[in-house]
Order: sequence, then C-alpha cells, then structure tokens
Amino acid sequence: MSRESEFVVVANRLPVDRVADGNGWRRSPGGLVSAIAPVMRSRQGTWVGWSGAAGERLAPFTEDGMHLVPVEQTAEDVELYYEGFSNATLWPLYHDVVAPPVYDRAMWDAYVRVNERFAAAAAETAAEGAVVWVQDYQLQLVPAMLRELRPDLRIGFFLHIPFPPLELFYQLPWRRQILEGLLGADLVGFQLPGAAANFVRLCRRLLDARTAKQDIEWEGRSVRARAFPISVDVEELRDLIARPEVRWRADEIRADLGGGTVLLGVDRLDYTKGITQRLQAFGELFADRELKPGEAVFAQIATPSRERVEQYQLLRDQIEQQVGRINGQYAELGSPVVHYLHTSYDREELAALFLAADVMVVTPLRDGMNLVAKEYVACREDLRGTLVLSEFAGAAPELRRGAFLVNPYDIDGLKDTMLAAIRCEPAEQGRRMRTMRKRVLEHDVDRWAAAFLDSLEGEPAAA
Ligand code: ADP
Ligand code: G6P
Repeated sequence: MSRESEFVVVANRLPVDRVADGNGWRRSPGGLVSAIAPVMRSRQGTWVGWSGAAGERLAPFTEDGMHLVPVEQTAEDVELYYEGFSNATLWPLYHDVVAPPVYDRAMWDAYVRVNERFAAAAAETAAEGAVVWVQDYQLQLVPAMLRELRPDLRIGFFLHIPFPPLELFYQLPWRRQILEGLLGADLVGFQLPGAAANFVRLCRRLLDARTAKQDIEWEGRSVRARAFPISVDVEELRDLIARPEVRWRADEIRADLGGGTVLLGVDRLDYTKGITQRLQAFGELFADRELKPGEAVFAQIATPSRERVEQYQLLRDQIEQQVGRINGQYAELGSPVVHYLHTSYDREELAALFLAADVMVVTPLRDGMNLVAKEYVACREDLRGTLVLSEFAGAAPELRRGAFLVNPYDIDGLKDTMLAAIRCEPAEQGRRMRTMRKRVLEHDVDRWAAAFLDSLEGEPAAA
C-alpha cells in the first residue's frame, strides 16, 4: 500500500495481537486500542503498528474491518525500545515515578531507531496532504521525523498517559530531543489541561521557544498544545448490555460469587493501578470486623501485561502473595473473600462483570484517563452501582460529582470510602450514576476523535 491513505494512525501496537501459538489474532490490551479501534472502523483509515511478536515480518492485511500495516521489531528492539525505553524509562517517569525509571543509552538508541522505522512506514503509507495521527509515548520522536520526510502532511499527536511536571521531566537525559520530536506535530493532544500546560512550559524553559497561551512557535510554525479527554465507545457497550446472554451471565457471576456485595477491579497488571493498596484496604475491613466473610467479595481481574519487565514481575508476585494472605486469614471454606484472575476477557464477559458489580474500584496511583471507570458508568443503564475513583485518575475531574473520590495512598481513606460505597442507598446510587452517565454518554469516543481531528484540520470543535 504505497502513499494511498488519506488517514493514517501510527501506534506502537496494532489493534490486534498475535495469539501465543502464532495462528490468528485477538484484540490487543489497553485503553489506546479500545479508543482508537472504533474511530478507525468508522473512518476507514490505515493503522501502522507492531504485531506484538518479535522478528515477525508481515505484509499489510485487513482484520476486523481495519486496514493494517505491520512494522517489524526484532527481539533486540522489543527488549531495548519496547520493554526498555518505553516501559522501563518513559512509563514510570510519566506516571509520577511510582517505580524508578531506568536511564540507559542503549535503550535510547533503540528508541530513536524504532521511531525512525515507524516514521518511514507512515511516510510510505500516507497520500499527498494526508492526515497522520501519531499515538502515545512510545512514538514521541515520530512527528518531527515524519515532517522531515513528508512536509506535505498534516500531523497530529495524542499522548494517552500523563505528561509530567518540569521537576520530573528534567530527569530525562534526552529531554530536549523528546520535546523537539513532539514539536514536529501541528497539534499535540493531552488528556488534561495541566499536561498541556506542562508541555508548553517545558518548551519555553528548555528550548527557549516563544509561547502564547497554549501555542508554541517552532521553526517558523505554530504548534498547538490542547487537552482532549478521551472516552469510551458508548454504542458498543450499549449493544453489549442489551444482549440477553450478557445479562444472564451477569446473574450467573453474581450467584457464583456467593450473593454478597460484589466489589470489582479490572486492570492491566500494572504498578500504576494501585491494586495492592485496594486489596490491603479491603483485607483490613475484615480484620477490623467492618465486613464479615460472605457479606462482601472482591473480584480482581488483572490482564497480563509487559511480563518481561522486572517491575511487572515483582508486582505480580506481590499481588499473588497478598491475595493468598488475605484469603488465608479471612476466607471460609468454599468462599474466598478475594477472587483473583490473571487473564484477559472478551468484551461480553467484561460487560457482564460490570453489570454484576455493586462497587467498581478504580484506584490508580496515576493514570492518563482510565477507560474502565467510564466503561462501568456507560454500562449501568439501570442506575445502580457505585464507583470508587482515585483522585489521580484522569477521569476524576469529569466524574468527581458522582464517584466516591479517594486518595489511593491513604489506606484508611480507602477503607472508609469503600465502606461508604458499599453502604450507599439505591436512591443515592441513582443520583450519582445519573450525573456520571450524563457526562460519559455526551462525551463519547466519537466526540473525542471529532474534536481532535477537526482541530487538527483547522475547524475547532467543542471538546
Ligand atoms: P490502560 O490503558 O492503562 O490499560 P484503561 O483503563 O484506560 O487502562 O484501558 C484498559 C482497557 O482494557 C479498557 O478498555 C478495558 O475494558 C480493557 N481491559 C482491562 N482489563 C481487561 C481484561 N482483564 N480483559 C479484557 N479487557 C480488559
Ligand atoms: C496503555 C498505553 C498504550 C498501550 C497499552 C497496553 O494504554 O497508553 O500505549 O498500548 O497501555 O500496553 P502494551 O505495552 O501492552 O501495548
């Protein structure tokens, strides 16, 4: 597919991932794919990305209604660029250094090399004057590299994770190069206004760029930095919860969990998600006799993620020990108080879990947005259920009036908030859920994509 696409998305991952035996595909993990896949299907563009397997050279193909252009990564690229600079350096640095970032020159060299490869693939795919939308922290150098190759293109960039304040970003030995890479875009999008402000301030301080409000003058162009809070595919979720089999499954899950209050956590297994803190708080409620076994149960679903990165291996061990300890102390025969599943589910099962949960517990230590919180709200057409939400989730400003907000570092605060959410009366649940639903249903992922792309193409729309 040579220089034919009018709309190109460039992301580290393709929306589908190789299944373990190498035959066939399944949906890739994470919020980026949940948000961008519906946009791609409706806009008929081309998605440039990696298949998730090392050393795989594939021709362009179509899957699930999307045209996909694979970019190869060798085993060394996976280790140094993906597991290394992307997920052992940038990921912890951008999430408030909740784990120590690794600064390694060989990882940086690989990041430059792989970003060049993505830029070249996008340059080969885009038609004259096309719109190219680059996604996320793994590809921050692509905008400038692509502009160099193809000055005719309209280039947008969206960062799905937080963008750190000056004091943290300054640690990065390659801080200037990252900013210059992003400034290759015409529009740089962030989840929240604070992140856009951090970026503008850094451009002024580190690059001596002239800025006016959220616009940055750079190499004779004006680069706009703006916030576009991402959202969920409300249409898809509405369709899922209308299916009788999803409703039956929700009843079945509730029955299997023993009939008490169901608390639910659904996350990638990531140290930013605050899983250990929420489990600790839940366990202590039994120790304090605020809860009795059988009265409440916690189902924690954790999608396997970045399993070769050390911090993720440590976290998995920690959670598995913790679950064992809590059940060892408080469970009764045949009724564990925590159900922990280290697996990923299809969308039907996830929707059924959302319908089965009385309390959705979303307590990241830092999160760009957190789509799980919005998915739960979008599924609760029945106006039942409560949401315990971290103040450090990007979704907090939008959902603060209906959610039970909490500081996830404060274990006593978490315990009190979980109890309040468990004990919330149905009328109050309805009032809170209605408030949150109004926001989520009106600001779905289509509206998010339209706001970004209209702004990129020069017609600003309401975000
Ligand atoms: P992140 O992008 O950091 O993983 P988000 O909450 O923004 O966090 O997005 C996670 C996405 O992955 C959501 O769409 C959610 O439904 C999906 N997801 C999370 N856990 C699972 C799981 N165990 N099985 C299937 N999908 C999952
Ligand atoms: C987050 C990131 C995405 C990433 C996803 C899954 O949503 O913002 O860029 O794709 O996590 O992580 P993975 O490393 O498996 O691609």
